[in-house]
Amino acid sequence: MEQNEPMRWRDWWLRLEAEFTLPSWSCHGPEHWRSVERNAIVLASRTPGADLEVARAFALFHDSQRLDDGWDQEHGPRAARFIERHRREIPLTDEQIAVLVRACAGHTIGAPLDDPTIGVCWDSDRLDFDRFRYDKPRPEYMSTPAARDIALEGGDIRARIRRMLWDLQSRKTP
Ligand SMILES: [Fe+2]
Ligand SMILES: [Fe+2]
Repeated sequence: MEQNEPMRWRDWWLRLEAEFTLPSWSCHGPEHWRSVERNAIVLASRTPGADLEVARAFALFHDSQRLDDGWDQEHGPRAARFIERHRREIPLTDEQIAVLVRACAGHTIGAPLDDPTIGVCWDSDRLDFDRFRYDKPRPEYMSTPAARDIALEGGDIRARIRRMLWDLQSRKTP
């Protein structure tokens, strides 16, 4: 492969999983990224105007440059700089990259907003808070009505999202 040629998403996942510096059991590691991706698929299907490709890319990149499992408040901007550095290897348009960079840079402290794509990105991450056990996703931190409804209902959100994803996929395959 020539340098800077766009990589396939499958190869991006393998690369970032291999390069992730925290232990495999990290609560911000690949298991969390996959959960955020499932949330993104479900939320994007219920959010008009959301760009699913960007939201799936966010799931992969947003925590990939973490240096610890604590606050690490620079990890969002670090992920944004990583994306800009590797822009030519990422199979997205310039417009999509600009949204992805903004979503990653602000994902830890961003207040709920109206942008459907960034809203789906942030909500997909915030809906996975129950992995910490000591906290639950808060409806008031969500940007999209779909995520607000899921957070309000509470319960085992990971299990419910899996069921919603299953319903979504079974509707697509006759
Ligand atoms: Fe994060
Ligand atoms: Fe995250």
